[in-house]
Amino acid sequence: MSENPEKDKRKTGDPPGRSGEPVGRSPLLRRDWGYVEIFNLDDFRRDDWALLNSQRDDYLRDQRHIQALDLLRASRNAPSFGYAINNYEHCLQTATLLHRDGYDDESIVTGLFHDVGFIVCPDEHGQFAANLLRSVVSEKQIWMLEHHEIFQRIHLHEYPDWNEQNFIRERDQWRGHEYFEWTETFVEKYDIVAIDPNVENLPIEFFEPIVQRVFSSASETPSSTPSARTP
Ligand SMILES: [Fe+2]
Ligand SMILES: [Fe+2]
Repeated sequence: MSENPEKDKRKTGDPPGRSGEPVGRSPLLRRDWGYVEIFNLDDFRRDDWALLNSQRDDYLRDQRHIQALDLLRASRNAPSFGYAINNYEHCLQTATLLHRDGYDDESIVTGLFHDVGFIVCPDEHGQFAANLLRSVVSEKQIWMLEHHEIFQRIHLHEYPDWNEQNFIRERDQWRGHEYFEWTETFVEKYDIVAIDPNVENLPIEFFEPIVQRVFSSASETPSSTPSARTP
């Protein structure tokens, strides 16, 4: 039995309401997990952090791939600003083409998420996807994500105000880099052509188990440093 029943009480389900009656428990809270019923991080102490950290890895294992897919799904019905298909369909089409050509799981997942931030974070969307997938795909895929925007430039002919050849051909500085060829291939065969409404995309449900496999095969959960574990 604990020496501090008050402290235990605040970490279990169904915290008491002001009347002393149990308040309704949010269906989002798991009955078999503990919750810290303290509402200011300044008041958290060692036991509270221990409770959170004891559940964190299991939570990420269960939820990361689901919530990543939800990020993508959020734009399912969003309009396009001029392309013949929207950004969600573009991501599906890239993944569909990679699957059709026999690529491995991590390439398909990288393709599926490569433009997930294209609308909400347009200027940094390669970095956005790289950060999302950094702990679950290889360095080769991360490098490709971080550079695919630059590799596209030589294909965007007569793009307004792009007159500087050093800018348009910026990718050439990486010729000979170990990931140059994959990035070039991804852009040419699976990105700039994946805007075709006549291609029958595989549904997102097809990719769900692939995403789950890739996320669950990650050797470690992200943000392992204590400071990064806080909200
Ligand atoms: Fe992109
Ligand atoms: Fe793209």
